[in-house]
Amino acid sequence: MRAFLLLLLLIVGCSHKVNIVSPAPHFDRSKYDAKASKAMVATQGEATSKATLSILEKGGNIIDAFVTASFTISVERPHSTGLGGGGFLLYYHHAENKVYAFDFREVAPILSTSDMFLTKEGEVQSLLSQEGALAVATPGLVAGLFDIHQRFGRLPWSEIIAPAIDLARNGFPLYDHLHTALKDRKHLLAADPEARKTFLMSDGSVPRMGTVIRQENLAMTLEKIANKGRDGFYKGKVAEAIIKTVRSKRGILTLKDLRDYKMKERTPVFSNYKGLKVFSMPPPSSGGIHVIQILKMLEPHQLKKMGPQSIEAVHLTANSMQRAFVDRATYLGDPDFQSVPVKELLDEKYLSALAKEIKTEKAIRAQDIKPISLPYESSDTTHFSIADGEGNMVASTQTINGWFGSGVIAQGTGILLNNEMDDFAQKVGAQNLFGAVGGGRNLVQAKKRPLSSMSPTIITKNDKPFLALGSPSGTRIITCVAQTILNTVEFGMPLFESVAATRIHQQWLPDILKIEEPFLSEKVEKKLKVMGHNISHEKLGCSIQAIKRENGLWYGVSDPRGEGLAIGL
Ligand code: DON
Repeated sequence: MRAFLLLLLLIVGCSHKVNIVSPAPHFDRSKYDAKASKAMVATQGEATSKATLSILEKGGNIIDAFVTASFTISVERPHSTGLGGGGFLLYYHHAENKVYAFDFREVAPILSTSDMFLTKEGEVQSLLSQEGALAVATPGLVAGLFDIHQRFGRLPWSEIIAPAIDLARNGFPLYDHLHTALKDRKHLLAADPEARKTFLMSDGSVPRMGTVIRQENLAMTLEKIANKGRDGFYKGKVAEAIIKTVRSKRGILTLKDLRDYKMKERTPVFSNYKGLKVFSMPPPSSGGIHVIQILKMLEPHQLKKMGPQSIEAVHLTANSMQRAFVDRATYLGDPDFQSVPVKELLDEKYLSALAKEIKTEKAIRAQDIKPISLPYESSDTTHFSIADGEGNMVASTQTINGWFGSGVIAQGTGILLNNEMDDFAQKVGAQNLFGAVGGGRNLVQAKKRPLSSMSPTIITKNDKPFLALGSPSGTRIITCVAQTILNTVEFGMPLFESVAATRIHQQWLPDILKIEEPFLSEKVEKKLKVMGHNISHEKLGCSIQAIKRENGLWYGVSDPRGEGLAIGL
């Protein structure tokens, strides 16, 4: 009888076991995995996480913390984001039980034309949209931070900028990721006098790891913004310096572009998923729609039974990613210029038709997927997540696009300008820096916002905060965010494992299933090849910053692949 009971217990125990995939042993938890706190900050920079927490300690609210994190990370990760860029914010406001979406994405200058990056023969000149002054779109970050703070902030504006000014003036030691970016973009930085002076040695070489990086001109610009608000950037000396530098390098930005810039409040995209409410960034980001599409295509497929990183689960996940990217190239663009069928792309019936389409024995070849006509048919970045002790949370992704953006610093200001024009389709079918295929709805047009993949996402459970997350890394943002949610919600992994586990990426074109270290088991990868997946082992570049609420307390994880910090109060 005892033996029978033991057997029964074993069977029951096994069938309920959650298969937790352990991360590679080299991932260190110490600064990446923060436990059980009243408030939580996860950013890609140590100094930024500490400065942000200090604002909460001083009695700042979630929006004060958001502004401090944004300005400080601009200084600490100058290759990823900055005053010369833009971004998105998702904000869960506890008092209203409401999620706000703010869009401070860059905008194409008034003088932009659809053929500005093409030769006379109609060939794409990618370098023009990636390097130099023509790549620069009107920056939106400062306007976004200022307007959001005016509406929701608590502490004085100048007080929450102070930590960024200190960091720019006193500097920080050069760390691995910035060092790699400097080596990669050395040629570009060397061509700009101020970039060269700020980031390279006097002989033009890349400084050694540990060298203190100071940005005095940026500190002075931040002081102007602290004193004058958004006018410290969009009018007066700083604005004039931006335009003078851009025009001297054959760019097209004008003072009017800067003066006219407006942040936009948008309605988040939303879906019910496994009893939770998922809110994410709407167009001009493609991210939110596709994160939700991927989750919803997989929802009926019982992935949990298959097990994380099993052949079946990886196959279906890759198929759903591939299918979402077909819609990205077909339907997405700036909703202020093109009609984007958001409702139709997230319609339950449409998504269940897609869910059936992804269930195949073999990998689907890219050319065999055709977009379904929709009923109405008439087309280096950073992320942080913060929770305060008052039930509010934010997820914000911000960028100047490629490493060091356009490589142009507005003379005397320390402001590195973005190369966001590359996120437009230079012509239909052309691919951008991240291999994203350009669709007709995302062609260059004056005052239009380029399509983005940035996917700040907030999930609530029983109308209470549950999860906030996001990542840098172009098109990979979408798939990294979706997989982290799958790991947490579908597979029930703890947050650290959800972030640290192996990631895959399939974006339709190129028709490749990318797998990042720690790779899948040999057996799984072999079978996936037999099923027709073109596998390649590649770095995906994501750096998920996630926070999660359990039993009233916050847990935070800064991706252990990076140099960030998760820290609780
Ligand atoms: O908005 C976008 O989708 C891109 N500009 C994001 C660029 C990015 O994530 C670079 N990161 N490493």
